[in-house]
Amino acid sequence: MYWYLPWVWTMSFWDSLVGAGDPAVATELEMDDVDFAAELHSEAFDRPWSGDEFASLLATPGTFGFLARRVGSPGAAPVGVVLVRAAADEAEILTIAVSKRARGQGIGRMLMDQVLQRLHADRIASLFLEVDEENAPALALYGRLRFAEVGRRPAYYADANGRRTSALVLKRTLR
Ligand SMILES: CC(C)(COP(=O)(O)OP(=O)(O)OC[C@H]1O[C@@H](n2cnc3c(N)ncnc32)[C@H](O)[C@@H]1OP(=O)(O)O)[C@@H](O)C(=O)NCCC(=O)NCCS
Repeated sequence: MYWYLPWVWTMSFWDSLVGAGDPAVATELEMDDVDFAAELHSEAFDRPWSGDEFASLLATPGTFGFLARRVGSPGAAPVGVVLVRAAADEAEILTIAVSKRARGQGIGRMLMDQVLQRLHADRIASLFLEVDEENAPALALYGRLRFAEVGRRPAYYADANGRRTSALVLKRTLR
């Protein structure tokens, strides 16, 4: 208890310093940003990708990404990342993650809108992704963006206790 109150104070003070709640903008994911991307990924997934893994994916032809940054805090750590790979006229979301403290503020939506805009401009016909059937926040996001289920991989994911859930394959038609 003694430590709890100062911790709460420190978090809210830190939030005010880094502009929590400020609007966010998307910037292109560059090689210099891969450690930020890895940090965001590790907050969201049990098997985190390293900066080197992001770098090697980003170096693959057709791969691009965006980071979300708070408008009022250009020097602060980014709050979201999305990575996409396009080949021929199809594309795939490789990963998307928003920092825990920034979720539910429209940042995932903003990153996805940025991706859709880029894919439209590049004349890509379809965007695919895989999502855990029990990932309600992600399903809400993709539902709003008019993704439709086109496949299912039964027992694809396993949690730490070995419980298995299916992966849904979703598709958004772009043209
Ligand atoms: C999925 C994720 C990227 C969503 O990012 P976010 O910034 O929190 O999402 P947004 O605030 O932009 O919300 C987008 C839409 O989804 C809905 N939504 C988001 N979180 C929700 C939740 N927990 N419950 C219900 N709906 C939710 C919002 O209401 C919003 O709909 P609206 O545009 O009609 O208001 C984020 O939760 C995350 O990083 N999760 C961990 C990593 C992950 O699961 N990635 C996806 C793997 S496929």
